[in-house]
Amino acid sequence: MNKEVEKIYKKKIKEFQKHNKLYYDKSTPAISDREFDELKADIINLEKKYSFLRSTKSPTDTIGFKPSKNFEKFKHKEQMLSLSNAFDKKDLINFEKKILNYLNNKTALEYSVEPKIDGISASLTYLNGNLTYGVSRGDGSEGELITNNLKTIKDIPHKILKKNIPKEIEIRGEVFIEKKDFENIKDNFANPRNAASGSLRQKDPKETSKIPLKFIAYTFGFISENKFKNQSDFLNELKSWGFLTSDYNKVIKSTDELVVFHQQFEKKRFELNYDIDGLVYKVNNLQLQKRLGFTSNAPRWAIAHKFSADHAYSEILNIDIQVGRTGALTPVAKVKPVNIGGVVVSNATLHNEDEIIRKDIRVGDTVKIERAGDVIPHVLEVDIKKRDGKSKKFNFPKKCPCGFDTIKEFNKITKKYDAVRRCPDKGFECEKIAVEKIKHFISKDAINIDGLGKKVVEKFWDLKFIKLPQDIYNLDYQKISSLDGWGSQSASNLKFSIENSKKVTLDKFIFSLGIRHIGIENAKIIADFTKNIKSFLNFFKKKKIKELINIDGIGETQVKSLEKFFQNKTNIKVVEKLSEILNIKDREVKNKGKLKNVSFMFTGKLQNISRAEAKSLIEENAGSIVSSVTKKLDYLVIGEKPTNRKVEQAKNLGIKILTQKEWSDLLN
Ligand code: IVH
Repeated sequence: MNKEVEKIYKKKIKEFQKHNKLYYDKSTPAISDREFDELKADIINLEKKYSFLRSTKSPTDTIGFKPSKNFEKFKHKEQMLSLSNAFDKKDLINFEKKILNYLNNKTALEYSVEPKIDGISASLTYLNGNLTYGVSRGDGSEGELITNNLKTIKDIPHKILKKNIPKEIEIRGEVFIEKKDFENIKDNFANPRNAASGSLRQKDPKETSKIPLKFIAYTFGFISENKFKNQSDFLNELKSWGFLTSDYNKVIKSTDELVVFHQQFEKKRFELNYDIDGLVYKVNNLQLQKRLGFTSNAPRWAIAHKFSADHAYSEILNIDIQVGRTGALTPVAKVKPVNIGGVVVSNATLHNEDEIIRKDIRVGDTVKIERAGDVIPHVLEVDIKKRDGKSKKFNFPKKCPCGFDTIKEFNKITKKYDAVRRCPDKGFECEKIAVEKIKHFISKDAINIDGLGKKVVEKFWDLKFIKLPQDIYNLDYQKISSLDGWGSQSASNLKFSIENSKKVTLDKFIFSLGIRHIGIENAKIIADFTKNIKSFLNFFKKKKIKELINIDGIGETQVKSLEKFFQNKTNIKVVEKLSEILNIKDREVKNKGKLKNVSFMFTGKLQNISRAEAKSLIEENAGSIVSSVTKKLDYLVIGEKPTNRKVEQAKNLGIKILTQKEWSDLLN
């Protein structure tokens, strides 16, 4: 009898191990959460009943097992940003023009041209030549510590013996899988990129080593001493240090030549061993790269030139109206599913009401659809020949699905009505906007709740679990665990990531509110100005929002939008409630800068430097820029042909006036 019991017990333990692994290591459970929980309960009951049953692999011993969803977090010394995209020659010319303006320079640039590998980026920190940390990109500031997994990749050296390796360096590159290797495992993954990402995040590095991953190095993050002149020199050095670099890297001297090379390469891309989705152009001179720096999400010195999109024809079955977070009504064509470049497309955006009118797009039409990289597929044109006599013009609804009458805003600058029709932004009062606002709230750049996706938000909304963002922090996990497809394990994972999200920085909090015209960059500016949540709250309580107009980067549009937002009672309730629930960190003031608490304003043209670069130099030193002459201004810097009125105002207020030379002496 005991033998029989033991046999059953062992079988269940084995099964538990298998599913535990599938769940945590692979994030691909093979049984439902409920079945998994029942299995665990069976084992525990057997152990209670038969005290001789013991196993180190029992769930009673493996509780607290850290799932691979929760690798240790690791802060990158230098952020890992993405790249802006260019699609045609016009975009490239624009890219170069912006750079030359920023540098206040007219001489042509030289570029390092590299294939844009479609994989997963990783950052490797070498201390005195030893690979010490291997980290995934994560949200760009903080990734997951996956050193041991990365160490299984043969192309990654564990030790660099060359003398010229800096004391500390973050080497960055792409982890990917070759096309031929993907063939063998393609049934388990949507595409090579997914396969690489899934394999990298295995709990057990042995699992990672089973999939033949590759690594190509292409840039550095933090570097303790930089002796390289050009990006191309750095790429060559990477090779000598033992890294794999792309065989197709090249230096090109003008945008015209870039376009020619791109055209040639686009045809060749299919011959490569791995997937690429464009070319990356980087300003070759590293000193110029340093001067150019970054915008909030991408370097100014690089751009990804995407390969042209794929097209297909399909029939419009219906036109749905989607309402966005700011109330914009976007028509979306539901089309007969069609494969475009390996992806099945069944939705294509029609952009806005005017676009439908202009192209006379109707239900039943056969249309040409374009899909470019990760951009949402869109309808290019109607194939009029295929239209039958019965089709009718599309009647764009004048009401939002929530019932409010829609409006078209008048643009004072273009003196035209907007192409977009919108639900007057009454915030959470419009049900459609409310769900979108919550989706925005949880998104990566906002509060960032890992375990709560858009689909789950929709489900919880339908079930009335969530009506306002704060409801997320008051969920009934008992109820959730009994939902179809859920279980106690996934409910507790969700709880974990929601609890984790409570610690947030002030800028991310401001951004998470989803105020129209307040993007990440503006949220940062407002956070810099208000410094902590208490004073942020005071700004609207004491009706001081207008004061924000003095900050560089904030204009009338933003101030009006903030005022409108804070006139709404629900919005105020949401902000107040969230500020109680969340642990909002004060904005970190750069202590290192010598210009801390010092404000500047420029008037007139500067020599050899653009305004934008001057601004970032000041900000790097913790100073700030203001946009009007008030008592709060410390220095007015005058260039060539300054505005006399500003100089007069400054003199009257006793503000110090600096020449460009005096200003740069102050910096150095
Ligand atoms: S440079 C801040 N070089 O593209 C500099 N990125 O959209 C950004 N990528 O996250 C990286 N090949 O995963 C760079 N030769 C290359 C690249 C490359 C592919 C990926 C990388 C990055 C993404 C940016």
